[in-house]
Amino acid sequence: ISLKKYNTFGIDVNAKRFISISSVYELQQLLKKEKKLFLLSGGSNMLLTKNIEQLVVHLNIKGISIDREDDNAVYLTVNAGENWHEFVLWAIEQGYGGIENLSLIPGKVGTCPIQNIGAYGVEVKDVITKVEAIEIETNKLVSFSNTECNFGYRNSIFKNEAKGKYIITSVCFKLSKSNHKLTTSYGAIEKELTDRQITNPTIKDISEAVIAIRQSKLPDPNEIGNSGSFFKNPVISISLFEELKNKYPTIPSYPVSETEIKVPAGWLIEQSGFKGKRYGDYGVHENQALVLVNYGNASGKDIFELAQKIQATIKETYKIDLEIEVNII
Ligand code: EPU
Repeated sequence: ISLKKYNTFGIDVNAKRFISISSVYELQQLLKKEKKLFLLSGGSNMLLTKNIEQLVVHLNIKGISIDREDDNAVYLTVNAGENWHEFVLWAIEQGYGGIENLSLIPGKVGTCPIQNIGAYGVEVKDVITKVEAIEIETNKLVSFSNTECNFGYRNSIFKNEAKGKYIITSVCFKLSKSNHKLTTSYGAIEKELTDRQITNPTIKDISEAVIAIRQSKLPDPNEIGNSGSFFKNPVISISLFEELKNKYPTIPSYPVSETEIKVPAGWLIEQSGFKGKRYGDYGVHENQALVLVNYGNASGKDIFELAQKIQATIKETYKIDLEIEVNII
């Protein structure tokens, strides 16, 4: 079958065999027979460059349960197949705070810990208490505490030591019920709230502001194939940064530590002239240079080659290695 509608880049590759799984039990039964699986969740962080030989497993385990709550917080277990944004909207409707800044991120709940999704000053690691997974080798249900997940910027244990060894089945969250600590410091959010004349924002206001910002900058995968940020924002040494700052005085940055600093990849790519460039059916998005797009029938190889060309240009101009954030298959 074609996987075109199962990946947000809209790449048309085929799977020989495909199965949709809707419970942990089904998954464990399957693992008794076959362990070499190709896991497919929301397909929102992958670039497919070839047909898939292994059995493609579409993880579609649904359900949200409230484990316990007190006056201030609610503890939830959310199954991997729940759509992330629908979960965010549901939480806001219940008055649960903590994930409003992460509105409209494509993908499913089960993959949010893998790359520690983050936007507008919040990372999902801030609200995850536990990640539950099946260990492929033993077929046993195991759990990772927040600390064990080793979260970092767009990073976790699931991209490192644990890669390929576990299938995440659910994620546990602690969300706030009162005295929400809102994160409004991100420039774009402040501006959006001011424009809307909101001085005392609710979680719903923040969510609506984030949705408006994202819709103005980021292409909707239902209309133009994409995987969000294609690259990570590079973390570079302060000394290289000083050198670049001399040459390019407007280079933006965010503090990381005493010795390191983060530079927006979107700026580097835009300055290199790639923003809005279109090559046939693929290119660089016109409103956000970090996003590579498929206008129709581009192949994964086309897009990967463009990414390599961008990497080489950035390396040559700025001596910076741009790391690809999307999984290249
Ligand atoms: N910029 C440009 N040109 C561009 C894009 C960005 O010059 O085309 C510069 C500007 O200086 C701008 C700065 O980059 O002020 C930051 O841009 P933006 O607020 O759009 O954020 P970003 O650093 O480009 C990151 C995340 C996004 C997330 C936003 C908001 C990464 C790799 N990306 O992008 O995440 O939504 O911050 O928090 O960290 C995603 O991962 O798919 C994603 C969209």
